[in-house]
Amino acid sequence: MRTQIVIIGAGPAGLLLGRLLDNHGIETVILERRSRDHVLGRIRAGVLEQGTIELLERAGVAQRLRREGLVHDGVEIGFDGERHRFDFKALIGRTVTVYGQTEVTHDLMDARDASAARTVYEAEDVSLQGFDGTSPVVRYVKDGVGHAIGCDFIAGCDGFHGVSRASVPPQAMKTFERVYPFGWLGVLVERPPVSDELIYSNHESGFALCSMRSPTRSRYYVQVPAGEKVEDWPDDRFWEELRRRLDREASQLLQTGPSIEKSIAPLRSFVAEPLRFGRLFLAGDAAHIVPPTGAKGLNLAASDVGMLADALIEFYEEGSHAGMDRYSSRALARVWDAERFSWWMTSILHRLPETDAFGRRIQRAEFDRLRRSVSAASAFAESYTGIFSG
Ligand code: APR
Ligand code: PHB
Repeated sequence: MRTQIVIIGAGPAGLLLGRLLDNHGIETVILERRSRDHVLGRIRAGVLEQGTIELLERAGVAQRLRREGLVHDGVEIGFDGERHRFDFKALIGRTVTVYGQTEVTHDLMDARDASAARTVYEAEDVSLQGFDGTSPVVRYVKDGVGHAIGCDFIAGCDGFHGVSRASVPPQAMKTFERVYPFGWLGVLVERPPVSDELIYSNHESGFALCSMRSPTRSRYYVQVPAGEKVEDWPDDRFWEELRRRLDREASQLLQTGPSIEKSIAPLRSFVAEPLRFGRLFLAGDAAHIVPPTGAKGLNLAASDVGMLADALIEFYEEGSHAGMDRYSSRALARVWDAERFSWWMTSILHRLPETDAFGRRIQRAEFDRLRRSVSAASAFAESYTGIFSG
């Protein structure tokens, strides 16, 4: 069989790319290792930048997002019991929208199902060949039967543990990494959020975050040491620890309940360079990871595939290679800007090995500077809402 583009991975990156190309009549096949339900079962961040919303709109999948997404004009940051609100709208005239990644994925899957485009779920043993030449082939096994798809290009959208990046000869790629010695323990609960906006909290005992999925469903996190097990965190222990890390008002308003999901996510910063290897392009988590502080993961995946879709459309409609040649450097400029921001936000809010008495005073000074200086607060607002002039 043959198609124009094989997309590996049906996460938000692969599905959005497929949709943007489909809208221009470019044929794609998506190969996904897991089942549809498994992909939809993952709970991940849900803060969308305006640029991400514009792309979802361009893709024609923003109707429900427009109805159900919660527009937030700002966020709050707490430090040792004090809290400060950063009003993005007043500072720079921008907002963010809270809408779960699961919902974005759902909307994209529904749109793909309604089109003629093909998606193969539970595709096993996906392998990539010939992308350094002119005729790439992607092989996979479905229900015990082997298949091969010849294509013009391959888009590796298969996340951090995928096969695409792993298929590139190591000498052709440079990687940059920082692994943090802690994770986020997250709980989803069917209770109204403690506040209308997100609260990022730095406390002596560690970081905490109050987020939400809807007016009746909340998502909370506490920083835990690496290696911690979910089984060691019964709900009562989680709520007690979260309360300890919030200011008095928030801890009193917090409505607790039985968790409907609980998991631990490790924190990592990672970038692979470049993002193009002949006829293979990497996008989203396959190419880079940010720690969740600042919620850039999904937004970066979206900006990558926005640029990649433009490049491929330019090739098919105008015969020009220029967009494809520029893709890696354009996307990486935005990636590194978000890496810097996520690393910075992580380091000012968490208890890190270097957070000794000196480190803690530096964190405090960062907080005070953000509170006192309109230009510092505006720079924070620009990064959080996703302004990037690249
Ligand atoms: N073959 C086929 N599919 C694969 C393979 C493989 N060998 N390996 C992984 N996949 C699939 C995964 O099952 C997953 O559904 O690729 C998909 C990758 O999706 P994501 O991990 O969601 O990555 P991406 O689409 O880049 O989205 C980035 O996810 O981790 C968050 O913070 C991140 O929000 C961001 C978003
Ligand atoms: C979430 O709602 O899961 C969330 C929100 C903001 C973050 C990270 C995660 O920075």
